[in-house]
Amino acid sequence: MAQTNLSQTSMGHREGFGSTLGVIAATLGSAVGLGNIWKFPYVTGENGGAAFILIYLLFASLIGLPVMISEFIMGRRSNAASVGAFKRLAPGTPWFLTGISGVIVAFLIMSYYTSVAGWVYAYIFKAMSGGLLTTDPKVSEQAFTGFISGVWSPLIWQWIVLLVTGAIILAGVKKGIERITKMLLPVLFLLLIVCVIRAVTLPGASEGIAFLFKPDFSKITGATILAAMGLAFFKLSVGMGVMTTYGSYIGKSESLFSTGVKVMLADTCVSMLAGLAIFPAVFAFGFTPDKGASLLFMTIPMVFNSMPFGGFFLTIFFILASIAATGAMISLFNTPVAYLNEELGWSRKSATVVTGLMMALIGSTATLSNSILANFKLFGMTMFDLFGYATDNIMMPLTGLIIALFVGWRLSKYDVADELSNGGSLNNRTFVKFYLIAVRFVAPAAIIVVLLSGLGFFQFLK
Ligand code: PHE
Repeated sequence: MAQTNLSQTSMGHREGFGSTLGVIAATLGSAVGLGNIWKFPYVTGENGGAAFILIYLLFASLIGLPVMISEFIMGRRSNAASVGAFKRLAPGTPWFLTGISGVIVAFLIMSYYTSVAGWVYAYIFKAMSGGLLTTDPKVSEQAFTGFISGVWSPLIWQWIVLLVTGAIILAGVKKGIERITKMLLPVLFLLLIVCVIRAVTLPGASEGIAFLFKPDFSKITGATILAAMGLAFFKLSVGMGVMTTYGSYIGKSESLFSTGVKVMLADTCVSMLAGLAIFPAVFAFGFTPDKGASLLFMTIPMVFNSMPFGGFFLTIFFILASIAATGAMISLFNTPVAYLNEELGWSRKSATVVTGLMMALIGSTATLSNSILANFKLFGMTMFDLFGYATDNIMMPLTGLIIALFVGWRLSKYDVADELSNGGSLNNRTFVKFYLIAVRFVAPAAIIVVLLSGLGFFQFLK
């Protein structure tokens, strides 16, 4: 495996990843997270199952992947994080505002993501104490709703999450991200497989399997399609510049295309495994798939409780889930920090502390949406839902659109081909052609149509 050290091979002050595996593991560390085990299943559940998944897969490959590769190109070419990348590649132009919009998106995602991560952290201890050992679906449901509708406990967990993530950020990119994810993602994968085996052998599991694999397109609406596109952006961590930052760490001898494809495939596998662990259980235990944000927390304890050593495995599951969530949060938290540090010249320490405090403040409104702020709504949504909706369905697609247009039309074809082929050493001209068609035409057109129809500007579906 090629050992590349960016700090030696190029102009950068930036710390690079050590190997091909390191690049993929670290990038997956951002992509794999609560999106796979929490959001993917619950959004799929709300949108009718298999047909939604097919549309999601289409968007992940036709929009998510090209945008991810575009971000890699920008990052590696400029050797800078998102805002800096725009500034270096198009000096003196307003393109860098796209980078700033990405910083805001990362901040808003963190505001509700830390709330859910707090539930996951707390569930480690609940599982350990045996407090989740029940085979009664009602008890499982009440345990969760009782917990999140409290005021202090969920808030304190959210702050703990922020403290942990902030501390890792201060410890440095390479040490923090690469080591943890490299070791633990395979373990998470294995545990999910154990969980899937139990779930699909539960009595009544077949309905859940059909829900995941038998598409029924009659349930698809413009809003469903928008949700599938939003999920693709969120899942792959694209449309905010996080992947630009990762691109800047990728060594000059790595293939950006194959990195992107591997990340997308591995990420999709984890989501599907989570779906296969959760939906059979949803039907077997008599829940409904449209339970929303609580789906994971109600069903997974039940699956583990119906197997030997369930309490033990459940604890390990939530430990791994917290680690995956933390990997994703590191990349989110780091986005505003990198901006304040690299563009505005703040020290890393003050950037981290101020960002963390702001996230705690704004994020509290998301956490309290399940208790004292439950009736406080903007555009008909609680703050928790609004942060998720605005970022997934509007801000990331718009930012992704501009990133695609930037790389497709503003950068020269020669530069793009040069970056994708590692200065001509990879023989991938056909791919470069397809990629250019995707970022110039397909992805932008799809984003615009899906956005406008999903937001109700016109209707091509019911
Ligand atoms: N992709 C991450 C997840 O699925 C969330 C994320 C979104 C992380 C955007 C970074 C940027 O959990």
